[in-house]
Amino acid sequence: MYKLIAFDAYGTLFDVYSIAQLAEVIYPAKGKQLTELWRERQIEYTRLITISDPNSTGSQYYLSFWEITARALRYSCKRLGLPLTRENEAQLMGQYAKLEAFTESIEVLKGLQVAGISSAILSNGSKEMLASAVDSNHLAPYLQKIISVADTRLFKTAPQTYGLLLNHFPVTKQEVLFVSSNAWDVVGAGWFGFDTCWVNRQALPFEEIGHQPTYEASGLTEILQKIV
Ligand code: LAC
Repeated sequence: MYKLIAFDAYGTLFDVYSIAQLAEVIYPAKGKQLTELWRERQIEYTRLITISDPNSTGSQYYLSFWEITARALRYSCKRLGLPLTRENEAQLMGQYAKLEAFTESIEVLKGLQVAGISSAILSNGSKEMLASAVDSNHLAPYLQKIISVADTRLFKTAPQTYGLLLNHFPVTKQEVLFVSSNAWDVVGAGWFGFDTCWVNRQALPFEEIGHQPTYEASGLTEILQKIV
């Protein structure tokens, strides 16, 4: 029986599809390529920053996820030869601040609350980005904590960052289920010692390294069926 279910944010509780839609409007026929490269670069930068100085007081190269996201966007547009005006950047970045939660997110969080299981977010996102997404989707009453890597200045998959959950809640590793739609995040959390649930909405193959997820689901609602 788990005492805490910890969720990744982007792609897991919040749907990032609207970003791709807007990118397609601004850059017809290139939106998909842009959003894929943008996401890849965003995560690449988090890893570069963390691996280059995995210090217990945080990486000296740390930049907020908001800043990293903006820089990754600028890089991706340059790489694809797409003009990025200030207005385009503000529009695309603005999508991050007002992402819609998946329709099932609130139901699952409510279900966990009813079952007496704590819920939290553990995300690379900055505190401001997370607060904005949580508030605009009215999720705050159902989340005990919203934890950002800003507290360690080390992005996932740094073990210190997964460890934040154990600092914030009186639980053991074995009492935590970590839920993410990112397979790499599931690998990191599994190596840290958490049970994991991989929300595999796109029916992708799992990574070829790391522990297999404890659970695999095609959406969040299945989590309730599996654990409550
Ligand atoms: C997060 C990104 C990695 O929320 O999805 O941490």
